[in-house]
Amino acid sequence: MALKDINLNLSRGDFIGLIGHTGSGKSTLVQHLNGLIKPTSGKIIVDGIDITSKDTDLRKIRQKVGLVFQYPEHQLFEETVYKDIAFGPKNLELGEEEIETRVKKAMELVGLDYNSLKDRSPFELSGGQKKKSCYSWSISNETRSFSTR
Ligand SMILES: Nc1ncnc2c1ncn2[C@@H]1O[C@H](COP(=O)(O)OP(=O)(O)OP(=O)(O)O)[C@@H](O)[C@H]1O
Ligand SMILES: [Mg+2]
Repeated sequence: MALKDINLNLSRGDFIGLIGHTGSGKSTLVQHLNGLIKPTSGKIIVDGIDITSKDTDLRKIRQKVGLVFQYPEHQLFEETVYKDIAFGPKNLELGEEEIETRVKKAMELVGLDYNSLKDRSPFELSGGQKKKSCYSWSISNETRSFSTR
């Protein structure tokens, strides 16, 4: 068993770093937060909703909780940075104008220059820029992001 006797309360605005040895269960813990994996016992409550209950619509939870992959190459896949960051808002069926506003805002927030980077391939970015693009995903979706690393 990777995790046992975990009690964790996170409040809005908290900025948490989780530190532990490789294989100690950090990624496993984070994957519980949007229902990617389920605990064998116990409960996980997000915004007052018990996500371990059978009746919970996990799509709603996943719009609240964003996960950023350990390796950006596992997450980025579109031809351009713009299309990549627009992927989430597009799935939310927002209008083109709102999508553009969100992509711009998300890129600005993480410190990626919109005009010079939006048409580049995400795979041509530097390691840090790739990682920032992944964070932009969660911001453009307006989720509260969690990183797996
Ligand atoms: N899909 C899986 N199936 C079975 N065991 C797994 C799976 N993923 C991880 N584990 C095991 O669960 C334990 C915790 O792994 P986890 O990936 O959560 O560690 P971590 O703290 O994120 O490590 P790292 O710092 O290397 O990212 C490890 O013993 C690992 O081998
Ligand atoms: Mg990990």
